[in-house]
Amino acid sequence: MQPSDTENRGLIGRLLAVSPDAPVKTIVVALILCLVASTAVSYLAVALRPAQQLNKLKDKQMNILQVAGLYEPGIDVVEAFAAFEPRLLDLRAGTFTDDFDAASFDSRAASQDPALSIALEEDPASIGRQSKYVTVYLLRDASGGVDRVILPIHGYGLWSTLYGFIALEEDGNEIYGLQFYEHGETPGLGAEVDNPRWKAQWRGKRIADASGDIAIQVAKTQSAAGADYHIDALSGATLTSDGVNNLVKFWMGEQGYAPFLANLKSGDV
Ligand SMILES: Cc1cc2nc3c(=O)[nH]c(=O)nc-3n(C[C@H](O)[C@H](O)[C@H](O)COP(=O)(O)O)c2cc1C
Repeated sequence: MQPSDTENRGLIGRLLAVSPDAPVKTIVVALILCLVASTAVSYLAVALRPAQQLNKLKDKQMNILQVAGLYEPGIDVVEAFAAFEPRLLDLRAGTFTDDFDAASFDSRAASQDPALSIALEEDPASIGRQSKYVTVYLLRDASGGVDRVILPIHGYGLWSTLYGFIALEEDGNEIYGLQFYEHGETPGLGAEVDNPRWKAQWRGKRIADASGDIAIQVAKTQSAAGADYHIDALSGATLTSDGVNNLVKFWMGEQGYAPFLANLKSGDV
């Protein structure tokens, strides 16, 4: 027996032959479109991931260069970043460790790993868990001494966790700069943490007073500690400013970098 005309056409031929008004044709065409589009999106997501990760790394390196005062437009970021010595810090001990590779250690991922992090009971920066290790960046002078240290910091603002760096002079007390490279605060309000004029206030300010107490403060009015310890809060964004105040105090305190900064001052690291 000869095959009929319809059997000869194959699947696509048969689909084309179906009337455009038939619901089955609409459904099949929609399914094919979904399949093609989702395959393309998945392929692009996987194919572009390495480039995205590289851009994220470069952006972080550029922020470290900026906060340390080494960034100039047009420079080769990767080349300039070689000036830094990344070291892995055991936060509680305040000493360096070689337990993991400093350049690639991901303290954000580590903070979600119970073996590599601790749950904070006192948590003024509202971060929940804290990685036991963080990568810090040292900038050395010509004679090999530490000239500046760049320390990662993070904590909650109003809507989001702000991630950034603070750069300190070799005494571990004078601030060279502070800036955030990631946050979700409102443009024009909390996002004014990125305003160069606001960031410029941090240069030369001090963290601890003569008795060693943390005196740096982001507030609307200056405290009794004086101008050396005062950063003006952002107007219309007191809640983000409070978040920055809390996170800076937290990271400069005993649960943050205080053990390391004490070792830095005494020349033990
Ligand atoms: C849509 C919207 C977005 C806001 N975003 C922020 C913000 O990112 N950071 C912040 O501190 N306040 C933000 N605020 C304002 C706060 O609700 C609050 O009024 C402000 O922090 C108080 O600051 P002030 O005492 O300087 O006025 C926002 C308010 C609205 C309505």
